[in-house]
Amino acid sequence: FGEKTTTTAPPVAELHLHIEGTLQPELIFALAERNGIELPYEDIEELREKYEFTDLQSFLDLYYANMAVLQTEQDFTDMTRAYLQRAAAGEVRHAEIMMDPQAHVSRGVPLEVCVNGVANALATSEEDFGVTTLLIAAFLRDMSEESALEVLDQLLAMHAPIVGIGLDSAEVGNPPSKFERLYQRAGEAGLRRIAHAGEEGPAAYITEALDVLHVERIDHGIRCMEDTEVVQRLVAEQVPLTVCPLSNVRLRAVDKLSDHPLPEMLAIGLNVCVNSDDPAYFGGYVDDNFEQLAKVLEFSVPEQATLAANSIRSSFASDARKAVLL
Ligand code: HPA
Ligand code: ZN
Repeated sequence: FGEKTTTTAPPVAELHLHIEGTLQPELIFALAERNGIELPYEDIEELREKYEFTDLQSFLDLYYANMAVLQTEQDFTDMTRAYLQRAAAGEVRHAEIMMDPQAHVSRGVPLEVCVNGVANALATSEEDFGVTTLLIAAFLRDMSEESALEVLDQLLAMHAPIVGIGLDSAEVGNPPSKFERLYQRAGEAGLRRIAHAGEEGPAAYITEALDVLHVERIDHGIRCMEDTEVVQRLVAEQVPLTVCPLSNVRLRAVDKLSDHPLPEMLAIGLNVCVNSDDPAYFGGYVDDNFEQLAKVLEFSVPEQATLAANSIRSSFASDARKAVLL
């Protein structure tokens, strides 16, 4: 689990990755022990039994609960280095990593601790693992815009090394328009803007994220397929959609991988790429996603190459880095 020795995946950029979603059960137990935290599970096996999700919220409940073991800067650094090592083994050459600052600040971990802990690992990712990285602060859409604005201001004041902002957590009932001022302020600060939309929420949320939040990329976006006008626009504007096939299956956004819309999305000219989302929770890293896509949906080598090239082109990497990777 979490180990990888061989891969058939092409070199890619991972653009949709929550660093807290890379916490493997083994590391959860190791950090709990190190920090003297009592976990509500006897052992790793009992924890693993909780990884049967019925929807997004059932996953989020476990995802937030497990973050309790993240206490020190070193904890965040260790988690991030573990991801980078495993991602590099799976052909990830560039990663744009989201973190959820509010999920840590709200349980008493100082903002500097969580941000510096992740940033310390990213600072040497190219030398250590051959992976260039960028950090994105994601805001929890089931919290208030005031809370998000407060944390954004603190991130800007401390000159946190973030390239942009994202929007995640419980989607339905928390539309993009709730965060108009947050995205405006981020834009004024020169930050790139992305948002989850159209995972569990309707296609209209994708349109709202584009028109109200002015995002450059949509995380997930699969429910665009329910609205031809939205699809036509996304094709025309070549808006990148960071699709996460194994995540969609595990969170029951699609029934089974063989029903996933990705083949059709690619065929009709949407700018799609493949990502892992929360690999410790959804049964695989990017290369595992590619492997399953090849096996179950019979993605050809040229199709896989297109998905990989899309990921690199859709990244916020420098033109020089993109040229190396393409
Ligand atoms: N969707 C929404 N919020 C999230 C996710 C996701 O897949 N992973 C972590 N936070
Ligand atoms: Zn996500």
